[in-house]
Amino acid sequence: MEMNQPIGATPLDGRPDGLVGRPIDRIDGRLKVTGRAPYAYEVREPKNPAYGFILGATVANGTIRSLDAAAARRAPGVLHVMTHENVPAQGEKREQVWPQLQGTEIRFFGQPVAFVVAETFEQARAAAALVKVAYEAAPPKVSLKAALPEAYKPKPAQTDPDSQAGDFEAAFAAAPVRLDVTYTTPPQIHAQMEPHATIAEWQGNRVVLFTANQMLNRGQKSLAAVLKIPETDIRLVSRYIGGGFGSKLQIQPEATLAALAARIVGRPVKVAMTRQQEFHAGTHRTDTIQRVRLGADRDGRLSAIGHESWSDAAIGDQFFETAANVTRALYAAPHRITRHRLANLNVPITSAMRAPGEAVGQLAFECAMDELAEQLAIDPIELRVRNEPEQDPEKRVPFTVRQLVPCMREGARLFGWEKRQAAGTRREGRYRVGMGMSAAARLNPLMPSAARVRLDPDGSLTVRMAMTDIGTGTYTILAQIAGEMMGLPVERIRVEIGDTDFPMAAGSGGSFGAGSAGSALYVACDNLRQALLKAGDLAAEGAAFADGRVTSGNRSEALADLAGRGGMEATGEIKPGRLKEQFSHYSFGAHFAEVAVDADTGEIRLRRMLGVFTGGRILNAKTARSQAIGGMTFGIGAALMEDGVMDPRFGSFVNRDLAEYHVPAHADVPAIEAVFLPELDAKANPLKSKGLGELGICGAGAAIANAIHNATATRIRDYPMTLDKVL
Ligand code: MOS
Repeated sequence: MEMNQPIGATPLDGRPDGLVGRPIDRIDGRLKVTGRAPYAYEVREPKNPAYGFILGATVANGTIRSLDAAAARRAPGVLHVMTHENVPAQGEKREQVWPQLQGTEIRFFGQPVAFVVAETFEQARAAAALVKVAYEAAPPKVSLKAALPEAYKPKPAQTDPDSQAGDFEAAFAAAPVRLDVTYTTPPQIHAQMEPHATIAEWQGNRVVLFTANQMLNRGQKSLAAVLKIPETDIRLVSRYIGGGFGSKLQIQPEATLAALAARIVGRPVKVAMTRQQEFHAGTHRTDTIQRVRLGADRDGRLSAIGHESWSDAAIGDQFFETAANVTRALYAAPHRITRHRLANLNVPITSAMRAPGEAVGQLAFECAMDELAEQLAIDPIELRVRNEPEQDPEKRVPFTVRQLVPCMREGARLFGWEKRQAAGTRREGRYRVGMGMSAAARLNPLMPSAARVRLDPDGSLTVRMAMTDIGTGTYTILAQIAGEMMGLPVERIRVEIGDTDFPMAAGSGGSFGAGSAGSALYVACDNLRQALLKAGDLAAEGAAFADGRVTSGNRSEALADLAGRGGMEATGEIKPGRLKEQFSHYSFGAHFAEVAVDADTGEIRLRRMLGVFTGGRILNAKTARSQAIGGMTFGIGAALMEDGVMDPRFGSFVNRDLAEYHVPAHADVPAIEAVFLPELDAKANPLKSKGLGELGICGAGAAIANAIHNATATRIRDYPMTLDKVL
């Protein structure tokens, strides 16, 4: 099915008591909390694995002058030491998957320089410490601010780094009210619970990788390019994944190295990155410098919107943070400009982290809107309402459904927004108290996906696709969709995902996972329904699937009987179509936060937080809420804590573990609630659902930042907003 026209009535409509949407528990939940769900490092299929350990560079800019692995090779249990001198030939970098151990050039701290394989993990690690590497090192270039003069326009990724409409500079200069502010955000690290891990095993010319990866089909393609073997000779298996947040969108060095080494030692090779390596050999989100300029009349009607963003990337890469992209669709104004510029630095590889672009873009832009509201003495919600666009202001096409205003209005009502006071005026004992809000918007893409379903003679259904569940609830929502479509309880649905031997699927990323994979499954089930009706010579008109049976006219047949002795199979696929260009696809929401700031110490405590969202049809009220409050928790971290602190002398992150790189803990996350307004988006996909995975983070931190200003009357423009900056 291609999305060329809006979806009409479907079997999912008009079933308020149906399976889809119900807040059922995760079907994999029990396995996970009892330790019976094998994550990549725990898979037992490959027998007798050897263990690999990555040795990373201790300089960030330079060359390897000499590398002596003799002692390591003699160390107990060592099977192989791979370096730039003996690594097998590899192909070119593909997307952000790099060939490993190439030459003597060091581009960033922690870049793998050797890979040691031994009988045990401890032996591999001990031997790695015996590899002597001497470097010719130059001072690393790690400051984005210092590199601004040489920042350039990166090669367009999905979208052009620049956009414009009208004459921004002239309109801004002529505007009666002007705001020109610069916000900065620090490097952020994915900090997912499960570090990267892979077990690689060669079966003849085919390599199987049990690995932690969000997008298996993409990983298969890029790894094939790097290993220079056909895609069909790579199988990726990721049945359970302990979080990703973008860090597992790409094949990371541990997987490539394990695959290369396993072939050499003729045994499965098992490797995990240490937490410290996650910060350096893995990826992170770049720091950004963002200039926002707003020109408006005295009633707050925007005439000019400018958002420019600078970010950095590793040497040889052009990944940039699309921080200003969302600004293209948020508010009306005839004159506009967005611009992204990039500088290459001696930093570890920067990549997509949860809500790439929007997450940090809205940290800047939604605070600038708050600043403008303050300057105009207009309520921040009212300012946004006055600039609500009729259609996408840059693409000039209608939105599929845009309920930003209802989200803000309902949020204001639920949160008690009317109690908000002028900045710096509310005091409760030693605390200054304030409220802030932000809009939330996140692209809602649809990605090609396919699914296969099989109805067995016992009346159970098996779903197969190369989809992943990174902790989001994919297993569960797929079971709900299949169950609802086929009239089967979830207990009769077996969901098998996380394997490239199954039909190609979008994977988990970009908030497209549930909608894309779920839609492919919907189509497969629809095809199976048609096949069953045909087999029973039943009229499709008015047919109802329930309780393992299909009823049509005055006949009722068991699905198992219709499927026959051999069972019955069907496939389905979904592709974006014309609607992709004819409409602007976003999920929307609004965040509200209340903070208390200690007047003496500057300590900032979040008191409560509310998000009101629209995400089309909600597939599971429980997992959707978890996604939303998880995203909001990310926003708390971005506003108040997360900060990859780089040592300019060494080009390394000094806070390279979860004790020093702070993410919110339970005590940091008080009353937090997420509410979804009813919505169906018939232009999004056949489920009429929209992406939620990253919506919760979008704007969440800005609402907190705006609350801090409301509490203290101090405007901080440098994230994270730590107490030293408030005082
Ligand atoms: Mo997301 S950054 O596409 O996992």
